[in-house]
Amino acid sequence: MPSVLPDGDPIPASGELPSSALDGLGSRPFGFYIHVPFCLTRCGYCDFNTYTAAELGPGASQRDYASTAIEEVRLARRVLGDAELPVETVFFGGGTPTLLPPEDLVRILHAVDEEFGLAPGAEVTTEANPESVTQRSLEVLREGGFTRMSFGMQSAREHVLTVLDRRHTPGRAGAAVQEARKAGFDHVNLDLIYSTPGETDEDWRASLDAALAAGPDHVSAYSLIVEDGTRLAARIRRGELPMPDDDVAADRYLIAEEMLTSAGFRWYEVSNWAVSDEARCRHNLLYWTGGDWWGVGPGAHSHVGGTRWWNVKHPAPYAHRLAAGESPGYAREVLTEDDQAVERLMLELRLVTGFPLADVRPSARTACAKALADGLLEVESFKRGRVVLTLRGRLLADALIRDLA
Ligand SMILES: C[S@@+](CC[C@H](N)C(=O)[O-])C[C@H]1O[C@@H](n2cnc3c(N)ncnc32)[C@H](O)[C@@H]1O
Ligand code: SF4
Repeated sequence: MPSVLPDGDPIPASGELPSSALDGLGSRPFGFYIHVPFCLTRCGYCDFNTYTAAELGPGASQRDYASTAIEEVRLARRVLGDAELPVETVFFGGGTPTLLPPEDLVRILHAVDEEFGLAPGAEVTTEANPESVTQRSLEVLREGGFTRMSFGMQSAREHVLTVLDRRHTPGRAGAAVQEARKAGFDHVNLDLIYSTPGETDEDWRASLDAALAAGPDHVSAYSLIVEDGTRLAARIRRGELPMPDDDVAADRYLIAEEMLTSAGFRWYEVSNWAVSDEARCRHNLLYWTGGDWWGVGPGAHSHVGGTRWWNVKHPAPYAHRLAAGESPGYAREVLTEDDQAVERLMLELRLVTGFPLADVRPSARTACAKALADGLLEVESFKRGRVVLTLRGRLLADALIRDLA
């Protein structure tokens, strides 16, 4: 979630949605995203909507956050009406959700269950910084209904973690995976970042080796993005660090694909690999396949039936609006059919299941034919004529998708 919010149409104080959004509610999978906007310190590369204690200012506190978030869950029930709407997935992201006491996270989850009901076998994930969990906190989360942990490991090399301003030691992420397994989590993800300034191929291989040795069933690997306004961007501008290089990033992606595949992982989205279908992140798949979700928290985005909205960004006005019984929504847009078609292509083409060839827009057919001829796309006929990225296509996915959208 980027920290700068776009403009859009105003949202009524009640949060009421246009009737088009409520049509077909319950026929699409439904999930909750719960944003927790707090971090102990800010990593130099990170542009997410998150605040350290020193940055937060008056009007919002970590201590009251669970109660405030629960107010928004109740608002969601009022806005969405009484329809049967079992929650398939809940994802707590940040920020650092595990900076809150685990009992607070469980309380928010139970409010979702009370208001909507969790579907049988619902996936409930929280992101966590490796240093922000303990054996006990993981046990409280597991017993409270969480089913999946996602740890931000980033690297196993100390000098890379230092450039990224990470607080944990290289070995902490692996230890956290072991603790999560002991607490009874079947599903554990590790997030990795590659092509950090100063990282070598050998460093990246060591990070992948360490991640695999920890035994997760899911790995996300992201190329370092230099976001405007971050400390990392300023250091690069001053010449203290080199800009990450696209060719180096492509080589690192190939190393990840090779090592993860050899270890039994398979890609299912350009930046995501899992050991089995059950290990895939169902919450992210819901985003990528046009599901409905309500995003709770400051700056959180929601999407229900073609209406997309986003909340006020700062935790203080967010808490203030909910305390006054009002929607914390900042602005919204109703997607046209055309917008939805473009969005569908942009998301589905990044998946291993690809995009139906027949649905490629007439204006993009030449670009699609060229991508097929250049070996960036292939037609999976056994998937009923869907175009799927080849390995080379995955390296160029962003540019290719721009051409086809
Ligand atoms: C919002 S963070 C939350 C997780 C948790 N706070 C942590 O840092 O461990 C989710 C993931 O996004 C990725 N990420 C954040 N900023 C990034 C950037 N500028 N470039 C690449 N990946 C980034 C990191 O891998 C991180 O683990
Ligand atoms: S801990 Fe995570 S969310 Fe917080 S600043 Fe670092 S990367 Fe961003």
